[in-house]
Amino acid sequence: MNSQVVWHDLECSGYEQDLPLWLELAAKQGPGARILDVGAGTGRVSLALARSGYEVVAVDLAAELLAALAERARADGLVLSTLAADARKLELADQQFALCAVPMQTIQLFGGTRARSEFIAVAGAHLRPGGVLAIAIAATRDFEEFEWHDGDPFPLPDIIEIDGSVYCSQPTVVRKDGDSFVLERRREVIDAVGGREQSQDVIVLDTVSVGELEEAGQRAGLKPLGVRAIDPTAEHIGSQVVLLGR
Ligand SMILES: C[S@@+](CC[C@H](N)C(=O)[O-])C[C@H]1O[C@@H](n2cnc3c(N)ncnc32)[C@H](O)[C@@H]1O
Repeated sequence: MNSQVVWHDLECSGYEQDLPLWLELAAKQGPGARILDVGAGTGRVSLALARSGYEVVAVDLAAELLAALAERARADGLVLSTLAADARKLELADQQFALCAVPMQTIQLFGGTRARSEFIAVAGAHLRPGGVLAIAIAATRDFEEFEWHDGDPFPLPDIIEIDGSVYCSQPTVVRKDGDSFVLERRREVIDAVGGREQSQDVIVLDTVSVGELEEAGQRAGLKPLGVRAIDPTAEHIGSQVVLLGR
């Protein structure tokens, strides 16, 4: 398996707390509704929606992740389209989506207020009348800064064994840096003969407020439809999901 896929699965795919909300928002749009999943990764949300009969278009920058997603959809007999593209510059011929879902803080990776605002205009233009853009942002006030050192018992690493190799992803740092949060992980692979390989993964999440997204939505002609909360879990911070309607 491609290592980008392994790390993505290990670090993201165990999260399920938000799935009932995406399914509820899809159900409100009616059976078989067309859904755009932005930053779909290996398909945690896309596959759940496709299994419930929705017509999903999964968009991500990373073609390798989408290839794994497409393979999983095929294996499960699901009909689903994938598109490797930058969601901030999306221009699909058929724009009539009932729901555009942006799960798991993906919008906080888009690189600044202007990029987020441009994305909201682009996503809004891909909605049919009555369609909804739903954007999950981390409840960053709940972030607890920490620095992990070898031997510390918590937080626990994510670990999986694939074909005799053990993949271990240890969160090591959460720190505020200006308007962003920096999340660092130590990734380690121990192969079947004891070879070890270490690398560091760094994610920078912009701080984003509900107000900013609602204002950007209004500038793009979208109505604020409220905010839904997703509770934190033992391993994941809580989220707010901002709803904007066309
Ligand atoms: C935190 S992961 C979320 C994956 C998946 N939606 C989930 O909930 O498990 C963020 C995803 O957004 C993708 N991404 C980041 N910037 C993007 C952009 N500008 N356009 C499309 N996808 C992007 C990344 O490649 C990554 O797969």
